[in-house]
Amino acid sequence: MNVGIDLINFYIPKYYLNMNELAKLRGIDENKYSKGIGQNKMSIISPLEDIVTMAAEASYDIVKENKKYIDTILFATESSIDFSKAAGNYLHKILGLSPSVRILEFKQACYAATGALQLAADYVRSNPNKKVLVVSSDVAWYGFENAGESTQGAGAIAMLVSKDPKIAIVNKGEFVTDEISDFYRPSYQEVPTVDGKLSIKSYIKMLKLLDPQEKYIFTCFHMPFAKMADKANATLKYPISDEHLRIAKYFTSEVGNIYNGSLFLSLISVLTLSKIDLSNQSIGMFSYGSGAIGEFFSLKLSNQYEKYIDKEQFLRKLKDRIELTSEEYINFMKNYQIKETTHKLINYNKSLEVNRFIIDSIKSGQRTYKKIA
Ligand code: CAA
Repeated sequence: MNVGIDLINFYIPKYYLNMNELAKLRGIDENKYSKGIGQNKMSIISPLEDIVTMAAEASYDIVKENKKYIDTILFATESSIDFSKAAGNYLHKILGLSPSVRILEFKQACYAATGALQLAADYVRSNPNKKVLVVSSDVAWYGFENAGESTQGAGAIAMLVSKDPKIAIVNKGEFVTDEISDFYRPSYQEVPTVDGKLSIKSYIKMLKLLDPQEKYIFTCFHMPFAKMADKANATLKYPISDEHLRIAKYFTSEVGNIYNGSLFLSLISVLTLSKIDLSNQSIGMFSYGSGAIGEFFSLKLSNQYEKYIDKEQFLRKLKDRIELTSEEYINFMKNYQIKETTHKLINYNKSLEVNRFIIDSIKSGQRTYKKIA
């Protein structure tokens, strides 16, 4: 049976910080960010959004059309708002899903969305009339004035997994697991502890261990920063061309790290920007999650995938954004991870009119959300 990605969509916040602005703020040579790590912009989450609103924005259209078939939501995140209550409970409510839909939160650093996708595919193989919504939503926030500050971002991906998928068959992968402290966030920390250099080493080591032997026209990579894909591609037996690498990296270079969604943002970049028709072609996918686990798998695109990729809309999401000044960036991120909503935040409402969902209130750890469009 063919099982895989039936539909895919993504959401990124409406705000971004230009990396040159960050370089100026921190007194760093602009080329370090643009050339050294390959980033032009990073998405900045606004104070009235969180991983739930981003997940809802990414999933809404997919769910609207498929409500009666979805019986499971797998929500992958490593920046969750609660260590017990799953973000999917809130998502389930705001998407208006039936009580018979099961939800689970998946955590394995940036790998969880890949694990969820593979397990969703297995579930559909044994329940062919069911569809699973796999959502990833993350805010990559490292705090101010540290090495990780330049590799932040925020965004969500939604994928509907079904039999006879309209976009791509998901093939089983090969994976490798180890215990490495390259990136972790104990429950008492607001931001992760990251050893970026160790993470890069571990990522490359795992890719080398997996050592994919097939030649792909495109390979998509997990990218904590766009330049990581150059390092990964250079280790492959069959690297993709420079032009195809540029395409696989483009969305990341404009958005930054979105953790679990990063690999799938690379896929969206390829599906949106490829100049060649990829019908019936296979694409390599390398997923890495700190801690650590790596998986290499492939997708086989359908012969009608292009009909289900709204390239113009995807590019508009990158284009129709508001640039923040560095003062605004600081202000936005100081309001991220707020514990209680206050009247101060209402001022942000206006600029979010284009969004469909915002946080309405946070009181004693409980969140309510509002649909505004
Ligand atoms: N012009 C051009 N290039 C320059 C430059 C300049 N002026 N200055 C520096 N560079 C280059 C450097 O040569 C270097 O290139 P190479 O890597 O090719 O050698 C690159 O820019 C970066 O320079 P540094 O290594 O000196 O930069 P840094 O100390 O600031 O570290 C970083 C960069 C390691 C990416 C750091 O930003 C970081 O740790 N970020 C967090 C990364 C991360 O999230 N890791 C987890 C990975 S997996 C994931 O996504 C999360 C998950 O699973 C949880």
